[in-house]
Amino acid sequence: MRAQLERDFQRFQRELPPGFPDHVRETYGIDLTARYLGETIPHPIGKGSGQLSLNETQLAADAEAGLAFVVLKTVIAQDEAGSQSMAAWAVHETKMTVERRRAASNRTGWTVTWKGRGWDRTLDEYLALVRAGRDLTRARRLLVLPSVKYHLPRLQEPFRDAEYRYTTRRLADAWGEPPLLVEKDFSPTLAGDSLAADRGQIVRWLREVPVRIRSASPGPVRIAVKLMNARFDDDFQLAMMAACTGADALVVFNRLFDAERGVAYGGWDLSERNLRVLDAIAPRVSAGPPNTPGSPPLTPGLRPLTPGLRPGLCGTGNICSGRLIVDYARRGCESVQLHTFFQLPLSEYAATRGSRTQRALHALVFHPSDGLVAAMLELEAAGELERRDGALHFLDLASHAHRPG
Ligand SMILES: Cc1cc2nc3c(=O)[nH]c(=O)nc-3n(C[C@H](O)[C@H](O)[C@H](O)COP(=O)(O)O)c2cc1C
Repeated sequence: MRAQLERDFQRFQRELPPGFPDHVRETYGIDLTARYLGETIPHPIGKGSGQLSLNETQLAADAEAGLAFVVLKTVIAQDEAGSQSMAAWAVHETKMTVERRRAASNRTGWTVTWKGRGWDRTLDEYLALVRAGRDLTRARRLLVLPSVKYHLPRLQEPFRDAEYRYTTRRLADAWGEPPLLVEKDFSPTLAGDSLAADRGQIVRWLREVPVRIRSASPGPVRIAVKLMNARFDDDFQLAMMAACTGADALVVFNRLFDAERGVAYGGWDLSERNLRVLDAIAPRVSAGPPNTPGSPPLTPGLRPLTPGLRPGLCGTGNICSGRLIVDYARRGCESVQLHTFFQLPLSEYAATRGSRTQRALHALVFHPSDGLVAAMLELEAAGELERRDGALHFLDLASHAHRPG
């Protein structure tokens, strides 16, 4: 199989075969089926919200490349009159720098330096993109979902429900057939903002925001919450996860914030922190609501709608190889979403043709030593992953996560 993998890696440098998950199943007996926000997807690799999901051309290229899902750029919620309490996040900035960054552990990885924030065009323009994504989703070519930054009040302030209602209704109308799938972004720039300096305030958001989105939606909605790396310790990351019981999925965890330079960053610092926190989940997140000092009581009348259900996990952060995908999967992630690895200089990919998405998928799946196929075969050889019905299943990695022994 190793020789076969070398051959595939070589020949797919020119072009990734359409429907590569079928090829992986037939050739290696590996079922890459994965899951995001309750949807079954053919493999685990998706694109995180950001500058690479801003227009229909990017979506078409990603569908063509065979990506599993795309999260659209985060739009800032507004009310009927167009007022946006989070308007500070709707800034225009185009310049991005893809640069190397050395982590505290001394490993050098990649990061994208950028001073921008959320969607900076109109809601109507965003809805046109949502409709294009809906059409690709219905045609089963690519799962596409919107991402929103809704109002986040200070502790003593009420939520602006008018923004939740108006934006969610417009998204639901554009999406059509329910359920509406939506990701709620808690971004690194928010983590760096004075709004996020208070733990109790963050815990209140995480408990209440999913419930508010649900009650603002005219029909059924599935909600993924993309958690930030807050400026507190690992235990607080766990407390955030435990607080967010109303979400159907958690994306763990958005980029770190460099307060000195005033920018978000990734690289190995990010994946090392994320994986370390996920390692600590098993005994603690399931233990119930967080006992966070200063944690306020929930607004009267609000209850999470899915008590006791653990949200599905989707990993994000410095995923630059199939091996990293397996690292996140073995800590419970049923899929992953990447940004930086889709933005590297062309010379960094072994593939010589195709879009960046195609070239990235080629490396992530077929690299003979660090790709997803190689990493899963290696686990099998080590006796850590077993075949069922003759196949290795990607989703078994997540479902075996954290089992004693
Ligand atoms: C330039 C840039 C813009 C981003 N914008 C958003 C955004 O609007 N909303 C969001 O939820 N995440 C955003 N992200 C975070 C990415 O979706 C991703 O979760 C994060 O960068 C970690 O993955 P990576 O290490 O593969 O880049 C952005 C990331 C980058 C690099």
